[in-house]
Amino acid sequence: MVGKICGTGSYAPHRVMDNHDLAKIVETSDEWIRERTGIGKRHIIEEETTSYMAGQAALRAVEQSGIDPAEIELIILATSSSETVFPCAACEVQKTIGAVHAAGYDMNAACTGFVLAFNTAQAYISAGICKTVMVIGADSMSNLVDWTDRSTCILFGDGAGAVILRAEEGMPVHMAAHSDGVKGPALTELSRHRKDWDKENDSESYIHMDGQAVFKFAVRKVPEIIEEVLDQAGMRLDEVDHFVLHQANRRIIEAVAKRLKTDISKFPMNLEEYANTSAATVPILLDELNRKDVLKRGEKVMLSGFGAGLTWAACLFEW
Ligand code: COA
Repeated sequence: MVGKICGTGSYAPHRVMDNHDLAKIVETSDEWIRERTGIGKRHIIEEETTSYMAGQAALRAVEQSGIDPAEIELIILATSSSETVFPCAACEVQKTIGAVHAAGYDMNAACTGFVLAFNTAQAYISAGICKTVMVIGADSMSNLVDWTDRSTCILFGDGAGAVILRAEEGMPVHMAAHSDGVKGPALTELSRHRKDWDKENDSESYIHMDGQAVFKFAVRKVPEIIEEVLDQAGMRLDEVDHFVLHQANRRIIEAVAKRLKTDISKFPMNLEEYANTSAATVPILLDELNRKDVLKRGEKVMLSGFGAGLTWAACLFEW
């Protein structure tokens, strides 16, 4: 058995901050941000929380799938910005959607989180442990960025996306995942370690990033892991119909496409609208593609996420 997606949903806050708005806060410009990243705007929470956004995305996925929430056996929620350490955000979602029989837990692997959660859900299904699993990616990056640091605050946004997987017969799902803790310092957010009296470390409670190191890592490792998964599947690159990658930077996605000698049209992007919503980018994009009917039954979809840890993962499945 494999997990087939039977419903998707997403949520983005109503408040939109475009590059011109950002240029009023830090020394930057719409031109610089668009040229270096492809980002045009980002959605930013006001009253919303990570679990609220996740719940709204989940409700939309349930509505689209037509399933009874009581059938959901497991909710895996990828996030690194839940408003509470516990209870976990997955349990909040369970309450919101009335998934009374579901177990739920959160997973934190930053921007790679959703793909790892998706792989985990597929493993539960192929092992015969669960038939119906909800996978969510949700992040409130606006709570983690230093709004005075122009090298990072321009990159991120807030949002959530959800998919529901149901056990069916079908093409085996192929997956891979890797981490490199030695390179962890390239991208950090240490707020959970900050004590209120430890004012000296205040600046550590925001995202710190070596942008070029992260850029190089992504451009090298994403093509590698895609090739690894294809080898495992015994498939060629040209047999993949859609490469749904973490939406961090248009130039990273273009460089990956170039390295794989694959036309950029197979790499959908929506980061102009949402920026990098961390664990939420892949499921928000999946929801958009699904609702626009871009993804057709039988097509092969490759997901790939990468980010802090450093971590990277990929998954190949049939839509
Ligand atoms: N607006 C205007 N200028 C900016 C700026 C901004 N928002 N941010 C940085 N700059 C300046 C720098 O201060 C530097 O100026 P200097 O040459 O006078 O010192 C110059 O632009 C170049 O900075 P640099 O860091 O070399 O730019 P870059 O081409 O590497 O682009 C990133 C920076 C962050 C856009 C790029 O490295 C990147 O996208 N990395 C990947 C990050 C990422 O996606 N992380 C999440 C992964 S999950």
